Amino acid sequence: MFETLQKATLDKIFVLMAEYAADPRTNKIDLGVGVYKDPQNNTPIMTAVKKAEQRILDTAKTKTYKGVVGNKEFSQAIVDLTLGGTVDAARIRCVNGNGGTGALMNLLFVLGRARPKGRIFISDPTWPNHIPLAENANLTVSSYPYFDAATRKVDFDAMMRVIDSLGSDDIVLLHGCCHNPTGANLTHEQWDIVVASLKRTGAFPLVDLAYLGFGDGIDEDAYGTRKVASELPECMIAFSASKNFGLYRERAGVSIAIAKDSATADIVSSQMQNVIRGTISQTPDHGAEVVRVILEDKELRAEWAAELKGMRERMKRLRVKLADAIRRKSNSKDFDFIAEHSGMFSLLGLPGDVVQKLKTEDGVYMINDSRINVAGIPEDRVDELADYLLRAAG
Ligand code: LMR
Repeated sequence: MFETLQKATLDKIFVLMAEYAADPRTNKIDLGVGVYKDPQNNTPIMTAVKKAEQRILDTAKTKTYKGVVGNKEFSQAIVDLTLGGTVDAARIRCVNGNGGTGALMNLLFVLGRARPKGRIFISDPTWPNHIPLAENANLTVSSYPYFDAATRKVDFDAMMRVIDSLGSDDIVLLHGCCHNPTGANLTHEQWDIVVASLKRTGAFPLVDLAYLGFGDGIDEDAYGTRKVASELPECMIAFSASKNFGLYRERAGVSIAIAKDSATADIVSSQMQNVIRGTISQTPDHGAEVVRVILEDKELRAEWAAELKGMRERMKRLRVKLADAIRRKSNSKDFDFIAEHSGMFSLLGLPGDVVQKLKTEDGVYMINDSRINVAGIPEDRVDELADYLLRAAG
């Protein structure tokens, strides 16, 4: 049986994570996989999550199936958080996803049924897993330019040249906030222009919202998603609770579909449920229930929001510290963009061999496209890291 198989290419992010774990050097620096790190270099369980878990442990009476749509109260809480009441509930349907990736998978599979081999336009560059996810859903991957490597900003003119040229059968995947891998984001005005274009062309938006609250705040980060959802007749949103609730391995996410009317929304919902039943049958509930408990409880919700704010502010501080250290040492503003980007990542623009050298010689791990996870910047070794980066950049 297996003789027909060839070795598959594994995702570079998780290959790097394993390499980092296997590296015996005690002074290694992990700027790789996108998980939040505290000053001790741990990825902690959030306090509100611990409390919600204890509450669930004390009160849960059953582990029976919830049904194919999953935890409906969790989905509702996420719709409220994400859309802030901007869309008529009669047009919205949700199912839970196996994390943000599972949420994307449900939506992409439905889109692949709606437009078999249809074109999906994905930002160049993007999170590497977008491409296999779309291909596995029977869609044809195309791209739109996104990043200007010289200015380290969004190349908005180039992006819009493609977005404006799309037709009503095309799908466009947008990063809701905190672009992965670049860290360069659309301004509110640019979101307005994108939405006006989609309104004109009828191209279908799918928003990947994996970092809500990691940029400038929940409402600020939700601006683009709310604009898309409230102004266009149809869209989909994949929400992940992996980062903003720190629930990575618990796989909590929501697939949100918004249709032009309630009857169409029911059809989309049946398709999403059909995808889930025919792939994983039911979604995991522990993380979903944790989020539900937190968002429905005033005190826990406030505690979670405060902790999320602390994480966001720490990432901003680390950005500024690294950019300052590099500017001080090099007398140049070449790396100031690190402080200007937002979210968890920045794309440094270093060539692959330099990234490789940083890993082997200095124990500094980043993704081979030179994406860094800013939460992994060691606050007490910022100067040392700045030296490594400057030497590497030549
Ligand atoms: C990342 O981009 O590093 C994270 O989203 C983890 C993942 O699943 O790739």
